[in-house]
This record gives sequence, structure tokens and C-alpha cells, in this order.
Amino acid sequence: MLTEEQVLQALRSVNEPHVNKPLLELDAVREVKITDDMVSLKIALTQTGTAEQMQLQQQVVNAVKEAGAESVGLRFEAFSEEELEKLGLQQEDEQDDSLLSPNSKTKFIAVTSGKGGVGKSTVSVNLATSLARKGKKVGIVDADIYGFSVPDMMGIEERPKVVGQKIYPVHRFGVQVISMGFFVEDNSPIIWRGPMLGKMLNNFFSEVIWDDLDYLILDLPPGTGDVALDVHSMLPQSKELIVTTPHATAAFVAARAGAMAMKTEHEILGVIENMSYFESKVTGEKEYVFGQGGGERLAKELQSEVMAQIPLGQPEIDEENFAPSVYDEDHPIGKIYMGLAEKVIEKEGK
Ligand SMILES: Nc1ncnc2c1ncn2[C@@H]1O[C@H](COP(=O)(O)OP(=O)(O)OP(=O)(O)O)[C@@H](O)[C@H]1O
Ligand SMILES: [Mg+2]
Repeated sequence: MLTEEQVLQALRSVNEPHVNKPLLELDAVREVKITDDMVSLKIALTQTGTAEQMQLQQQVVNAVKEAGAESVGLRFEAFSEEELEKLGLQQEDEQDDSLLSPNSKTKFIAVTSGKGGVGKSTVSVNLATSLARKGKKVGIVDADIYGFSVPDMMGIEERPKVVGQKIYPVHRFGVQVISMGFFVEDNSPIIWRGPMLGKMLNNFFSEVIWDDLDYLILDLPPGTGDVALDVHSMLPQSKELIVTTPHATAAFVAARAGAMAMKTEHEILGVIENMSYFESKVTGEKEYVFGQGGGERLAKELQSEVMAQIPLGQPEIDEENFAPSVYDEDHPIGKIYMGLAEKVIEKEGK
């Protein structure tokens, strides 16, 4: 009768077919049972159910029979994630040149604020559009999965193309757009559990076929919740643009936004002061409807700078190319956004 020792000896030169390393070295022989002339083995593989597994099966049977077994029984199992990790074999998921890899060339900009309703989404879509007008390849992720608004703001009615597991973003004004809103029927509200948030975001990065991005703008939900933290853990290289209003209470908001930036350890690209003033078309006079100095104070607190002051004003409505929140390039506010895009490009060196 064969001994376990002899069986293992016979398997010495058999490799795990996917990573091409000896089974023994990988501790892949999980069970050896010997009864009379029958040897049963359980073997762990990095992938199961593959053509390589079939070949390996043959190889193992031959080797063990050569060593003297009459018959050989084989069972396979997959290495667990932890085991793969320990062996340094975790599947890289083609991540290396992907968006999320550390050597990704895409610049991520998360648009955040200490509180809701200050214009994050408006800034996100207009910055994205302006960067595209500057010839950059730009994507926008509407990461506000509860209150997605980007499709409506950009006037998108189309839905992304889905081919197999892959999702192709919708193109609008030269910007590649992905929003949770694309995957919800009838605008019905959605309730997410914590872990699903991260998964959803992850899918936006890994399952969406982005076309070679220079910039990816993330429109974050209001507040300092889970998503901001998820974004950090997924995209530590992402920078933040913080949107504020000019309110006198901005110092208070500043403290919160600052705390969030610190919590997520994101580098702050700059501050945008939105709804800064109202400019009379008739006299050109500026009225500081919501007060003054909020942006400046926030920038100081964060040791950053005010990158743009955006006045109150609505885009012209263009029936043919309806996008209720996108300013034209030659609209006074559109020009301010072009200036912001230029500053971003200058700061990011790209
Ligand atoms: N400069 C501006 N002038 C006039 N209206 C503006 C301006 N900026 C934003 N708004 C309007 O204010 C409202 C809130 O803006 P927006 O949705 O961009 O804010 P948000 O910070 O993304 O909000 P939320 O926290 O709900 O995501 C919208 O109706 C938008 O059209
Ligand atoms: Mg928003």
C-alpha cells in the first residue's frame, strides 16, 4: 500500500496550472486518503471548472498511478480569498491599468460640501462640461445615490448601453456620465444598506467602460457620511473641491468640511464659493444677497484658495439641447466655469 509520503512525492513536479507553481508549495493538496490501492485527493486551485483543471486532473491521476495506485479519486476546491491573499495570488482583476490602480493616469476630483443644497451637483456638471470644452477627456460619477440629479441637470434621457456585464456611460456635451439614476425605475427612492454603497461605487469604477479619462469628477451626496469614506478608501488619490455659499455662518460649515477632509485624508484642491452675488443686468451692480466672505474664510481654514466665485443666475434655456443646469460657454457664468477649468488644469498639471 502507498504511503501519504509517496503520494506527495509523486505530485512533487505537478504545478497548479493557473499560476504555474508546484501544488505542494502552494499547500494545495488538502486531503490524502489511502485505502488499499485507492488514493483519494482533494486539491485546491486558484480557479475551478477550467480547461486547465481537466488537464491537471489527468496529470495527477497519471502521477499517482505511476507511483503504484490502482485508482485515483479527485476532488477540487477553490482557494479562499484569504488564502490567495496570503499566497500573494489575489486575482488582480485586470486592475493594473484600470481606473482604480495606483498608476491610473486619471485625476479624480470629488466635489463635496459641509451641507446640502449649496450647488455641488451644479458645480460638478459645469466643471465637467468646461473641462471637456477645453479638450479634456472627462467623466462624471453621480455618486449621490439617494438624490441623484446629474441626468436631469444635464438633460439626459438616454440610458447607458449594457453589454454583458459591462456598462457604457452616456455621452453628453462631451462628458461621459454615470449615475445611479440610470439604474432606477420610475425615479423611485432607493434604500441602501451601508455595504451596498461601496459596492455600487466600486461597480461604477470597475464595470463601467470609461473611454480613457483625464478627469473623473465625483458628485458626492451632501454630508460627511459613508460615501465620502468609501470614496477615500477606494480613491485615496482623489482630491476635493469644496463648495460653500458666502454665508456669514461659513466658518461653522468650514469647520465641518475641514473635519471631513481630514477624516478622509483627501488633499483639498480648492474652494468654490457658489451663489456669491447677484449681478444686475441693468446696472452691473453686484449685490451680495447671501453675505460675503464665506469662501475666503473656508479657504483660510483649510489652508487652500478660493478657485471661483460663482454668482446667482440660471442658464439660458435651449429647447433644442435641453440641459437645465449647464451654462453655455459664452454665458457669463459659463465663462467663470471655463476659468475654473483652466485653474484646475493648471493645478493638476494636465
Ligand atoms: N449659482 C447659482 N445660481 C442659481 N441657482 C443655483 C446656483 N447654483 C445652484 N443653484 C440651484 O440651487 C439648487 C441646489 O443646487 P445643487 O443641486 O447643485 O446643490 P447640491 O449641493 O448638489 O444639492 P444636494 O446637497 O441636494 O446634492 C438647484 O436648484 C440649483 O439649480
Ligand atoms: Mg447634489
